[in-house]
Amino acid sequence: MPIIGREILRYEQVSSTNDLVRQWGHDGAPEGLVVMAEEQTAGRGRMGRQWIAPKGSSLQFSILLHPPLAPLEAYRLTSVTAIAIAATLRDELRLSPTLKWPNDVLLNEKKCAGILIETVVEGNMLALAILGIGLNVNYAMRDYPDLTPFATTLADELGHPIDRAALEGALLSHLDDYYQRLCAGEDFYAEWRAQLSTLGRRVRVATPDGIEDGIAEDVARDGALLLRCDDRLVRFYAGDVTIVKRAD
Ligand code: BTN
Repeated sequence: MPIIGREILRYEQVSSTNDLVRQWGHDGAPEGLVVMAEEQTAGRGRMGRQWIAPKGSSLQFSILLHPPLAPLEAYRLTSVTAIAIAATLRDELRLSPTLKWPNDVLLNEKKCAGILIETVVEGNMLALAILGIGLNVNYAMRDYPDLTPFATTLADELGHPIDRAALEGALLSHLDDYYQRLCAGEDFYAEWRAQLSTLGRRVRVATPDGIEDGIAEDVARDGALLLRCDDRLVRFYAGDVTIVKRAD
């Protein structure tokens, strides 16, 4: 029996689907509830950024979950989500996605999907996880010149529009499969690590505490990025990674 998507609420316009799911969660809605929106007026990304997509162009939704994870293990939900999105793009559209630490899905090195997990902690467990996903589908990133160097859409990559409904169905089904396996105790560290195109590259990691340059040497089992800065190995649990080109 699927958990994710057993109930789907659809809205034309919301502030942020994460906010609605949080409210539904507090009101006792069942696990797996999905809130989909054609448009968000206050869609948000990681590190306080805005998340925008033209109305009706993309997939923007949030899922109510009760993962059997401790707060420090929340990264496992993020990584399994990235793996599930990548698997959907491979299986349904024959694309070749990679992952960027901590939780972006890339096509040809440009971001096509982002994940925002917000949690409610009770004791030493996650009482609630709000899993927000934004996937850029049917619009042209050239209309957003500031983003063009870093982001892309599925239509841009394929050169034609995508059947959003079919993609939504496939994505929810992959997410459900991976989520249920996560809940059953399966470990996705190796699968996640193998898909991270960040590893081995010279990168810049920006956090609220500052900027560090180095080689993205590996990821640890606890989800940390291990950045080699000369003789130091620095661990990051959050941050923004950009690839440093030779001339920088
Ligand atoms: C990121 O890459 O910074 C995360 C982006 C997450 C965007 C999605 S869209 C649906 C859900 N509602 C939000 O306000 N944000 C997430």
